Amino acid sequence: MKNTVTTFKDSKNNGNKLTMLTSYDYSTAKLIDSAGVNGILVGDSLGMVCLGYEDTLSVTMDDMLHHCKAVTRGNKNSLVVCDMPFMSYQTSVYDAVCNAGRLIKEGKAHAIKLEGGSEFSEHVKAIVKASIPVMGHIGLTPQSINSFGGFKVQGKSEAAAKKLIEDALALEEAGAFAIVLECVPAKLAEIITKKISIPTIGIGAGKECDGQILVYQDLLALFSDFKPKFVKQYANIGDQMKLAFSQYIDEVNDGVFPSAEHEFTISDDVLEKLY
Ligand code: KIV
Repeated sequence: MKNTVTTFKDSKNNGNKLTMLTSYDYSTAKLIDSAGVNGILVGDSLGMVCLGYEDTLSVTMDDMLHHCKAVTRGNKNSLVVCDMPFMSYQTSVYDAVCNAGRLIKEGKAHAIKLEGGSEFSEHVKAIVKASIPVMGHIGLTPQSINSFGGFKVQGKSEAAAKKLIEDALALEEAGAFAIVLECVPAKLAEIITKKISIPTIGIGAGKECDGQILVYQDLLALFSDFKPKFVKQYANIGDQMKLAFSQYIDEVNDGVFPSAEHEFTISDDVLEKLY
């Protein structure tokens, strides 16, 4: 069944949990989609897990478009949400609408996600007015890493927790259809989830959120630079890949691969004319 923004909005009333995973390429999008997630996020985390940057700040619109196009070609039924990269919307409401439009028009995403709370209400309103669904993202917003002074849990003090509640309400009011809550205390995420009528999608925000999202490389233990506390590794594909790569190297060196079954034949008639 096709997932749309309506699936997301309805989940809050029917109590169905929403599942999302990130994806950045065609083959993985096909696998994730066929597993039956509700949404695929083409996250700007691609800067770290695919492109090897230290953070997400260097990711460009071209990077996002390139990967979004690959994901949407592999997807059939999931709602594809594409991240707006750093400085593609912070500069002006005009830039925000134009760049959101490119992710839909060229990238073929169904919705966009942007980081930030009430300070981006006008941006969200304008994008929604252009008929582009917006997913909000508050808490640990990696594009603000330099302001936060590192990847830290957000909303621990009374003032910070109240600001996150205000931000969630402001994004709902601006027309966002869902909000990602990243790295916030579980009890605060529960309060926010109860206060708003649109679904919350948690990552490091506890089980009371309306849905969950993980970066697929984290879930499969494919990204080994660090492992956030909130990640559960469902399989160790990283080790399986390393094993397969070294078996391949050994078999080529030992003359085991390729064997007859991997070769193409030529008729003897043609062959004898070649000598
Ligand atoms: O870029 C990303 O992958 C994200 C998720 C962690 C929510 O924003």
